[in-house]
Amino acid sequence: MTPHTSLIDEALQCFRQEVNAELSRLMEPQTGIPDRLLESMSYSLLAGGKRLRPLLVLLACETCGGDRASALPAACALEMIHTYSLIHDDLPSMDNDDYRRGRKTNHVVYGEALAILAGDALLTQAFEVVARDVRPPEVAALCCLDLARAAGAAGMVGGQVADLEAEGKVLGSMDALEAIHRRKTGALLECSLSLGARIAEGTEEQRLALTHYGRCLGLAFQITDDLLDVRGTQVATGKGVGKDAARGKQTYPSLMGVEASQMRAELLVAEAVESLSMFGERARPLETLARFVLDRDH
Ligand code: IPE
Ligand code: IPE
Ligand code: MG
Ligand code: MG
Ligand code: MG
Repeated sequence: MTPHTSLIDEALQCFRQEVNAELSRLMEPQTGIPDRLLESMSYSLLAGGKRLRPLLVLLACETCGGDRASALPAACALEMIHTYSLIHDDLPSMDNDDYRRGRKTNHVVYGEALAILAGDALLTQAFEVVARDVRPPEVAALCCLDLARAAGAAGMVGGQVADLEAEGKVLGSMDALEAIHRRKTGALLECSLSLGARIAEGTEEQRLALTHYGRCLGLAFQITDDLLDVRGTQVATGKGVGKDAARGKQTYPSLMGVEASQMRAELLVAEAVESLSMFGERARPLETLARFVLDRDH
């Protein structure tokens, strides 16, 4: 590791702490929220996690010359939506997992009804945070639109439905699998970049370069998630492994093998990094994150 990368790693750790502090603040008790609901929301939201999506929001904002403090609400909103998607993804009627972020899954601890409702509440609160705290209001409206599209029926939710429908089947082509991965995971990652660029009020050219990076990284990220299910460990990932094959999930390694999947992820990360060229030195942290996605063990 060069001194340069370790400085960037330190900065990323500091950004993560800023996100965690703000998420904790957002989970403080408020009139009207039942105690057990808030406990269930906080249980999953404050359980750690890599905070990749919020980091992408903050870094996109800084890469376009913005002040990252102004992007903190949107960064938290992305993490709330992501956490809701994880709580629902783990439900018995979906992937039926009992371990996540190094602890029992939400429904195992709080029961299915509360897990569903905690997910609903996190999703809804994310939009409240963006509508209330992103300035100016025109930018907040655009961020809400991006988020709704990325999280909704043609984005993450649509991808999750396609993922479940494909269980136990053999997909006709790699394109079909790619379309699932781009929606269930890629859409929110790409959206993170878009929000950061919008909040910095960067140029449309900058936003498009960053969303291209996000699109490549998003697909690479789900490929490496599939790879971790095959060759990762429960201790490092904080979630069960070997579950995809057990459930008959369609994944990159199941369709093209481990080596070709790794190679596909490498090419995508290279393409992601290439799309940062217009930003020069400023994009180093985003480059570092892209390489982390490739080498990660968690
Ligand atoms: C896991 O996401 C689910 C996918 C979308 C692949 P992460 O790997 O980002 O999970 P956390 O947030 O670090 O727990
Ligand atoms: C999850 O994909 C995608 C979303 C949560 C939207 P996976 O089902 O592969 O994620 P893990 O492996 O359970 O984290
Ligand atoms: Mg799933
Ligand atoms: Mg899952
Ligand atoms: Mg997975």
